[in-house]
Amino acid sequence: MKKLEDYIVSIPDFPEEGIIFRDVTTVIQDPEGLKLAIDTMSGFLDGVDFDVVVGPEARGFIFGMPIAYKLGKGFVVIRKKGKLPRKTISQEYDLEYGKAEVEIHADAIKPGQKVVIVDDLLATGGTMEANIRLVERLGGEVVKVVFLIELAGLCGRKRLADYSVESAVIYE
Ligand code: PRP
Ligand code: ADE
Repeated sequence: MKKLEDYIVSIPDFPEEGIIFRDVTTVIQDPEGLKLAIDTMSGFLDGVDFDVVVGPEARGFIFGMPIAYKLGKGFVVIRKKGKLPRKTISQEYDLEYGKAEVEIHADAIKPGQKVVIVDDLLATGGTMEANIRLVERLGGEVVKVVFLIELAGLCGRKRLADYSVESAVIYE
């Protein structure tokens, strides 16, 4: 039987020299890869008490939504700046390559709600730190963050040391 890592393709020097890009499109385009990814990631939430799943654009949508659906929860989006139509709060952050700003609708999380945040990949942790900040600024409590992939060499887990972090596949 194939393992999750067998579905991930690694592309050297994309989108710039020195980056090994871990491509998850090859996971989700295969029905067994997709099932294995969603079942493994949602398995981290067995017995976890939470209210809602949050996922960042774009790849956080791919994995967050099916997990929310499977576990009978709602799904809240975090989007790149300028995409959300109603009142938002925003947060700037640094990427492994480049800079970005993300937003969430101001009414998307209610104070005291228990939140799980899902994304495809943990690199430096800057994106997840910004996601967490947005949720907490709205009064949410982040009970777990779940990734398909963790790039351990970039030490994102250290940056998220105050949180419960789960990753399905870890690259050293
Ligand atoms: C990628 C990835 C994570 C983030 C990880 O998203 O999907 O969200 O980078 O990097 P970090 O841990 O160093 O912050 P990207 O911003 O490239 O956006 P995309 O999902 O829209 O491609
Ligand atoms: N996002 C940030 N770093 C990445 C990488 N090395 N592969 C895929 N997505 C990423």
